[in-house]
Amino acid sequence: MSSSKERVFVTAASGNIGSGIVRGLVKKGIDTTAYVRDEQKAEDMFKDEMKTGHLKFVVGTYSSIDVFTKAIQGHTRLFLLVAAAGTKPTAMSEIKETFAKIAFEQGVRQIVDLSSAFVTSYGRKGIIGYIHTAAEEKLWKLADENPEQRSLVVLRPGSFMSNHFMHDVHSIKDSNIFVSCGLPSSPMTWIDTKDISDCAVAVLSESVEKHDRNVYDMGAEKLSNEQRAAIFSKVLGRSIVYKQLSMEDFYKKVTGSGMSHSFVYHFTMVASKDICETTTPEIAIIIGRPLRTFEEWLRQNAKAFE
Ligand SMILES: NC(=O)c1ccc[n+]([C@@H]2O[C@H](COP(=O)([O-])OP(=O)(O)OC[C@H]3O[C@@H](n4cnc5c(N)ncnc54)[C@H](OP(=O)(O)O)[C@@H]3O)[C@@H](O)[C@H]2O)c1
Repeated sequence: MSSSKERVFVTAASGNIGSGIVRGLVKKGIDTTAYVRDEQKAEDMFKDEMKTGHLKFVVGTYSSIDVFTKAIQGHTRLFLLVAAAGTKPTAMSEIKETFAKIAFEQGVRQIVDLSSAFVTSYGRKGIIGYIHTAAEEKLWKLADENPEQRSLVVLRPGSFMSNHFMHDVHSIKDSNIFVSCGLPSSPMTWIDTKDISDCAVAVLSESVEKHDRNVYDMGAEKLSNEQRAAIFSKVLGRSIVYKQLSMEDFYKKVTGSGMSHSFVYHFTMVASKDICETTTPEIAIIIGRPLRTFEEWLRQNAKAFE
């Protein structure tokens, strides 16, 4: 891709995935706009990238439509990620539809959407499946209104390894356990957000035609709860144990921490079913290396669990 003609707009640019995309694009010399809520935070995050002259910031939110409409002008590609946890179930699809419609109307030729493996495995079943399926449906409809001009690529990742920073990190640090309500043998398919960022960077920097209308499911490693406990024990050098709660106790514990009924019910459902149908080693074709294992991720982040 010619960096003189292309300019990529990255939403959620200060998040796990967005920040990796910004760094990856700038490293390739591609002019990049990072859409952020807090400019100071962004300046602290992207000190090196700012020095290259390839990065600019636009300060805005999912609600500041006027800011987005003006800022997207002159861009050819858009990475679209909406973090809508805690909002109404229709919020993600409404925001994505609004942003995508404006982007396509302003001349963006390719949108790379961050969805979820739940869409492949469950469709609308479970609230996360509903949220992402509804959003995808609106994006596909917009893209298909003008297929010659509008390209859409959807990334559907499995469970993020970084989810361990939300709850498990505390129980592992405090009492060497992590809890859920699945059987010790229940599997879950994990993915490092770095792999998601790298896949998005490849798609956003290669020809629009190459990836047009692909859906990339992304799952690196299928691990049971007891296999995960064994990897934690090996890497941290102390015994970490998986503790299975009853569904009722799990539901009470997590709703007690403030999560809504719909999300906790969803997590209770998938605790024994897994998020991905299969792992996807074929993503190596796109990113030029194998997907990262859970052990690799944990070795890099072990300090957080000490
Ligand atoms: N966790 C999983 O296992 C999993 C699996 C599949 C798909 N997903 C999907 O992955 C996405 C989360 O990705 P992530 O981990 O990269 O997110 P993240 O690290 O939590 O980052 C969220 C980003 O969104 C920004 N943001 C939050 N509210 C905003 C608003 N109102 N306006 C503008 N920006 C806003 C945040 O800005 P600040 O930095 O200012 O806070 C941050 O840059 C969600 O769509 C989720 O459904 C998650």
